Amino acid sequence: MDKIIINGGKKLKGVVTISGSKNAALPILISTLLTDDRCEIRNVPDLEDVNTVISLLRHLGKEIKKNKDRIIISKGDNICSDAPYDLVCKMRASVLVAGPLIARFKKAKISLPGGCAIGIRPINIHLDGFKRLGVKYVIKEGDISLKAKKMVASKIILDFPSVGATENLLMLSTLVKGETIIENAAMEPEIIDLANFLNKCGAKISGIGTKKIIVNGIKKLNGCTYTVMPDRIETGTYIISSAITSGDIKITNLIQEHNESLIEKIKLAGVKIYQKNSFLNIKGINKIKSIDIETQVFPGFPTDLQPLLMALMTIAKGESVITETIFENRLQTVGELVRMGADIKIKGNSAVISGVKKLTGTKVVASDLRSSAALILAGLAAKGKTEITGLEHLYRGYENIVGKLKNLGADIKLIKEGYLKKGESV
Ligand code: UD1
Repeated sequence: MDKIIINGGKKLKGVVTISGSKNAALPILISTLLTDDRCEIRNVPDLEDVNTVISLLRHLGKEIKKNKDRIIISKGDNICSDAPYDLVCKMRASVLVAGPLIARFKKAKISLPGGCAIGIRPINIHLDGFKRLGVKYVIKEGDISLKAKKMVASKIILDFPSVGATENLLMLSTLVKGETIIENAAMEPEIIDLANFLNKCGAKISGIGTKKIIVNGIKKLNGCTYTVMPDRIETGTYIISSAITSGDIKITNLIQEHNESLIEKIKLAGVKIYQKNSFLNIKGINKIKSIDIETQVFPGFPTDLQPLLMALMTIAKGESVITETIFENRLQTVGELVRMGADIKIKGNSAVISGVKKLTGTKVVASDLRSSAALILAGLAAKGKTEITGLEHLYRGYENIVGKLKNLGADIKLIKEGYLKKGESV
């Protein structure tokens, strides 16, 4: 079992460069299914989720070359419109192949992704939208088969501004004749990045970044070269890592407006933030003030950063309340933080945190992607040694987090499975 070992207490210092956004890269790579032309996607982070998308695209008949952070996608020979369970179950975002596949081939068969640690995550909003565009579907034996004889542009009002549903419908409607309007659309920056990519391929999308997206369908999309935006959740992770270690770090290659809600909150917690054009400087203070947060869709406080901010609040002065409104199970980092000495009580979908002087290092298990990052941050601040397992989640979404933290002065190491001799312990 791979594990991360951290000896806490080091103040982080130095410069960290943000990688390309996972949540933008995944739909952009998937949307290349909409064209047979060559696409070159740059600034793609080196992550397990990206590898899963590459396997999925290859399975669906694409030819793919990977050269560091560049991925070149061209038409292969064996086009197929079935996404099987062994690929879909690895990553929920696989469901995003539905939109492009129906747009191209008028049919798709996809294994239902099922729930995951952070919640049930149904796809009813995706399906309701597909139906409005003339797609019919049946669910049988865990698979969903979608078919569309003739697709019709339409006005779709989403029940909730789901990121995935907005992306799926956006991709599908680029090739549906007429004007499709997506109302109550998600406004997350990753959707803007996807729409910008599609427009660069010739799509006609307006209202990008607003609640009302208008798509005028065209017959064919071209290929293009596109650079993925920086990862705002990775940026947030390093902002909080400096705050939690009373550090002094500079973050480069970021888009500051993407993190405004976090920056506001972190300032309220007393952390000093200096915003310059090309970087952000975060100077932690000795005693963080407690703040309350409630997760919201963009531009509100992102659910992905909630477990990380919770880690910070465990050592703040006073009591803070963190309320999760997007995913029903995303307070599951609490149990592990309590094992590290945090004082947290759960009340409904809120966590009430009474700050303690210090966390103490111990063995903890990560249950999902963002909780693994939260436990790393807690370990950086804790007294003594923290040992984190369950790293398969971390590998899905953080490029070289151990190396980047080491560069900032953290005492952290990754022990790969098989590294230790039998009977040896670290
Ligand atoms: C994406 C992000 C994830 C982020 C989330 C919210 C990717 C790969 N993942 O996930 O990191 O935390 O946005 O910002 O980009 N829902 C339904 N029915 C649906 C669709 C969603 O009930 O058809 C519910 C979900 O269960 C959840 C909420 O809506 O409770 C938000 O989900 P959604 O915005 O779709 O998130 P994802 O696209 O899955």
